[in-house]
Amino acid sequence: MAPPLPAFVVLFAVIVPLSAAALVFPKEALPTKSGYLPIPPANASLFFAFYEATHPLTPPASTPLLLWLQGGPGCSGLLGNFFELGPYLVSPDAETLTPNPFAWNRRFGLLFIDSPLGTGFSAAPSPADIPTNQSVVAAHILAALQSFFALDPSLRARPFFLTGESYAGKYIPAAGAHILDVNPTLPEALRVNLRGVAIGNGLTHPVAQVATHADSAYFTGLVDARQKRELEALQAEAVALTRAERWREAADARGRVLSRLQNMTGLATLYDAARQRPYQTDPVAAFLNRAEAKAALGARGDVAWEECSDAVGAAMHADVMKSVRPGVESLLRRRTRVLLYQGIRDLRDGVVSTEAWLAEVDWDGLRAFLDAERAVWRTRGGDGELAGYVQRSGALSHVVVYGAGHLVPADNGRAAQEMIEGWVLEAGLFGRRVPNGRRRRLNAAPGGRRALVKHVGI
Ligand SMILES: *[C@@H]1O[C@H](CO)[C@@H](O)[C@H](O)[C@H]1NC(C)=O
Ligand SMILES: *[C@@H]1O[C@H](CO)[C@@H](O)[C@H](O)[C@H]1NC(C)=O
Ligand SMILES: *[C@@H]1O[C@H](CO)[C@@H](O)[C@H](O)[C@H]1NC(C)=O
Repeated sequence: MAPPLPAFVVLFAVIVPLSAAALVFPKEALPTKSGYLPIPPANASLFFAFYEATHPLTPPASTPLLLWLQGGPGCSGLLGNFFELGPYLVSPDAETLTPNPFAWNRRFGLLFIDSPLGTGFSAAPSPADIPTNQSVVAAHILAALQSFFALDPSLRARPFFLTGESYAGKYIPAAGAHILDVNPTLPEALRVNLRGVAIGNGLTHPVAQVATHADSAYFTGLVDARQKRELEALQAEAVALTRAERWREAADARGRVLSRLQNMTGLATLYDAARQRPYQTDPVAAFLNRAEAKAALGARGDVAWEECSDAVGAAMHADVMKSVRPGVESLLRRRTRVLLYQGIRDLRDGVVSTEAWLAEVDWDGLRAFLDAERAVWRTRGGDGELAGYVQRSGALSHVVVYGAGHLVPADNGRAAQEMIEGWVLEAGLFGRRVPNGRRRRLNAAPGGRRALVKHVGI
C-alpha cells in the first residue's frame, strides 16, 4: 500500500488539471507508440501514431494491424485519428478528448501515418522532397512501414491491412500493388504480411468517376434537366483532357464540375448532402497545435499542424486525374482482399462514382461479383438499424453505408466499426459462407433493394 499522500501533493493534483496539464492527453488516450518513421530521402520521416488493440479476439501475435491513410491529397492521418475512428476524438471545445465507442482499435492494432511527406506533422526537408506521383508515395509508405516494423519485430508477422478514404483511394492501390511487387524480392524476414485493402469513398479511376456527378445529382432531384446538361458538358471536358493526358488542366476541369455542382445545389458541402453545415474539423487543428498536445504525441514542436497541406495539394495536382485502377486489379488477381465502401450521402466520391469504375475492372472474378446478390445489412448493436448493403464475391466486397457521407466513421461510427471488424475477421455478412436462410431473411427485410434506389447518389 502507498503511504497516505501529504496534503500539498493532494493540492497539487487538484490544481494541475485546471492549468496547462489539462490540455495534455489523459494517459489512456495516448498512443501506444508515436513519433517519426525514417524514410529516404536523407533526414525525411513520416509522423505516426499507433494504438494497440484494446479488446482483441485474437492472440497478440495474430491480431490484425490496420494502417489508416487520409485523403486530400495532403490531409493528415490525424484527422482520421481524432475526428473519425481513433480511440479518442477531439471534443467541439477543442480542449478535451472524448472516448470513441466505435474506435477501430477495439479488435485491431491501428496505425495512422501522415503521408505524403509534407502532410500534417510530416514536414518535408525541402519543398522538392514532396512527392508528385503515386510511385513515390507508395515507396515512402513501404519505407515507413519497414521503419515501423523495426520498432518491434513481433508486429511484422501480424495480418496487415491498408485502409483509408477519399484520395487514399489512390494511395492504397498504389501502395498495395507496390508491396506485392516488392515482397518477393525481399528476404522473408522483411516482407509485409498484406492481407487486404479497404477504401472508403475513394477516388481511384477518376475518368469514369468524374462522369457520374450529373446523373447522381439529377436522379436524386438536386439539379434539373438543364443543369444536368450543363454539368455533362463540364464533365465531358474533364474526360477529354484526361484522355489527352493534359493532367493539370484535367484536374482543373474536375474542379469546375464540383464547384458548379456545389453552386447549383447550394449544399453546405458536397461531402454530405444531409448537412446544413460542413464537417466541423477546426477543433482538431486547435487541439493539435497546442504545445502540450504536440509534446504528448512526440510531434515536432516547430511544425504547425494543418488539416490539409496546400503544398502537398499543389505538388500532387497533376496526379489527380491519373488512374490507379490497375493497382486494384493487381491486388484482386493476387487474391488480396479488397473492400470498397461508400457513405451513401457523399456527392464527391459516392456510390455511383464507385460503381462506374467497378464495372470496368479487368479481373476474372468480375462477372460473378456483378451477379452476386446485394444483401441488406443491419447493425447487430443498437436497434438493428439499417446499416447499408453488402455485395461480395471472391476477393471483392462492396459496401454501401447508410446514414453516412464522405467521412463514414465520423457519420455512422457503429456501422463503420461493424463493417471493418466483420470484413477483416471474415465474420457475419463477410463470413466465408453466409448461411442461405440468413441471406434470404436479410433480403426480405423491409426496404430491400427498392429502398436503395431512393438514396443512391445523394
Ligand atoms: C540532415 O540533417 C543534418 C543535421 O541537421 C544536416 O547537417 C544535413 O545537411 C542534412 N542532410 C540533408 C541531405 O539535408
Ligand atoms: C515520380 O516522381 C519521381 C520524382 O520526381 C520521378 O523520378 C519518377 O519518374 C516519377 N514517376 C512517374 C511514374 O511519373
Ligand atoms: C452561384 O454562382 C453565381 C454566379 O457566380 C452566384 O451569383 C450565386 O450566388 C452562386 N450561388 C450559390 C448558391 O453559391
